[in-house]
Amino acid sequence: MHGTERKVLFVSLTLMLVFTALLVYASKGLGITLPTCNDRIVPFTEAKVIPKENDQFEVHYVARMWSFEPAELILPENADVDMYFSAVDVQHGFIVPDTNLNVMLVPGAVNFAHHRFNKKGEYLVVCHEYCGLNHHNMMSKIKVLASAEYTQKMQEMAAKTASAAEKLLDDRQCSSCHTTDGSEGLGPTLKGLYGARRTMTDGTQITVDEKYIIESIRDPDKHIVQGYDPGSMPPPDQPLTDEEINEIISYIKSLK
Ligand code: CUA
Repeated sequence: MHGTERKVLFVSLTLMLVFTALLVYASKGLGITLPTCNDRIVPFTEAKVIPKENDQFEVHYVARMWSFEPAELILPENADVDMYFSAVDVQHGFIVPDTNLNVMLVPGAVNFAHHRFNKKGEYLVVCHEYCGLNHHNMMSKIKVLASAEYTQKMQEMAAKTASAAEKLLDDRQCSSCHTTDGSEGLGPTLKGLYGARRTMTDGTQITVDEKYIIESIRDPDKHIVQGYDPGSMPPPDQPLTDEEINEIISYIKSLK
């Protein structure tokens, strides 16, 4: 073998080893992963932000012509986020400049990416897959706040939701029979209701969950708790929208 050949072989093999080591380091040491398509998850149409322990989050992004949901994602600094993506109509893109987030959102499939937001600030999300007339306007925001700021923002938002829900309960005259402070009313109190186990007039036991609350609002006589009379609650004169019901459910959940 020629001396130069030997050198070239040595250099190429060394480089290959270095590159492989760097790849292993990036994935194991730095935790950098590539966006992947996950065919074991059923595609979803509802956006969700699920806070978990230690600044971990699970976010479900839904893309449709021509918006992303959540339109604004608020996170604390160093949030460690598992992101799932789905599209309801056509293919969309999801790219966040200055990060390695670059995902394709495909109808009928769920894509996954993981990202840790180390730097606070506002991140712009844009759609980079041509998806029709308003493609150029399709964007959303990710706001990463300092930890204290984030806590304050969440408290403000919770207070806002609570006051909106209280107003809704007043407007629909729910609060004339259902108290929110645990005191007795014509109907069961909403305080501590969520997750509680109740005995119905027919002797069955029900754990109060979202389904129970929805059924009880839409069809008040479907389940009657022991000690209360059927027919006391008129069904709403105008049906509540899904959004209004969700507002009430999250409010009831907060009344512990
Ligand atoms: Cu969505 Cu382009």
